[in-house]
Amino acid sequence: MQNNTFSTLFVSQNLIKLKEVDSTNTFLKNLASNSEPLPEGTVILAEHQYAGRGQQGNIWQAEPGKNLTFSLFLKPTFLSIHQQFYLNIAISLAIIEALEDMLPRGLKIKWPNDIYFKNRKLGGILIENSVAGQIIKSSVIGIGLNINQNVFDELIKEKATSVSLILQHDVCLNDIFAVLCKYLEVYYLKLKAGKLRILQENYINKLYKHNILALYRQNGEVFEGRLKGITNEGVLIVLKNNIEEKYNFKEIEFITN
Ligand code: BTN
Repeated sequence: MQNNTFSTLFVSQNLIKLKEVDSTNTFLKNLASNSEPLPEGTVILAEHQYAGRGQQGNIWQAEPGKNLTFSLFLKPTFLSIHQQFYLNIAISLAIIEALEDMLPRGLKIKWPNDIYFKNRKLGGILIENSVAGQIIKSSVIGIGLNINQNVFDELIKEKATSVSLILQHDVCLNDIFAVLCKYLEVYYLKLKAGKLRILQENYINKLYKHNILALYRQNGEVFEGRLKGITNEGVLIVLKNNIEEKYNFKEIEFITN
């Protein structure tokens, strides 16, 4: 176990820095299953992921040495499987609060847990839970944030942004990482203290397109709707033709702009 000088109680107190790895989530999951008990708060931070993973089986691309790609090990055994979306909520809010001090207004959470700045994606979260019966035994929280990358792949360049593109100058990766660790711990402790209602309210207040008439697609059909919030299970509520409709992940697609 390595000791670090982070102003945290446990998040990142055991920090493992890697030059190169396939995926920090995969590495951490293997570590957790091979070296139990792994201390809660362990973080794997990589300079380069050559097989970074995103949601829905997508790949996560990040230019080596310019971004933050890391995974955090938590043991949210106090959450039932029906409450697992609250982890998405706490982690998304922690990232927003950490970045809010350094960026102009415009940070939002695109449901379920993409970090957006205006209409562009700044970061993503991949949470992989290990469930035992009705409880979450452990959780690997993968976070990828575009920090000092100015050029993106052709396929995503119209949809992606980074801290340096927003500020027009590079920033210190270590400083941002330290602030992120602080807020990840703060929000995880709020979750542990059972502040579910307030976390859910704060999340809804930060939702991208909240209360705004926007276009969505479901099963090939494009419709206009107004995003109203989420259920306790994290299901999206959209007002469509004056009726509140509910959508699970993958059932609805945002059509931006
Ligand atoms: C997404 O928006 O699709 C989620 C992206 C999550 C990327 C991070 S980078 C660190 C961690 N390791 C991975 O392989 N993925 C996550």
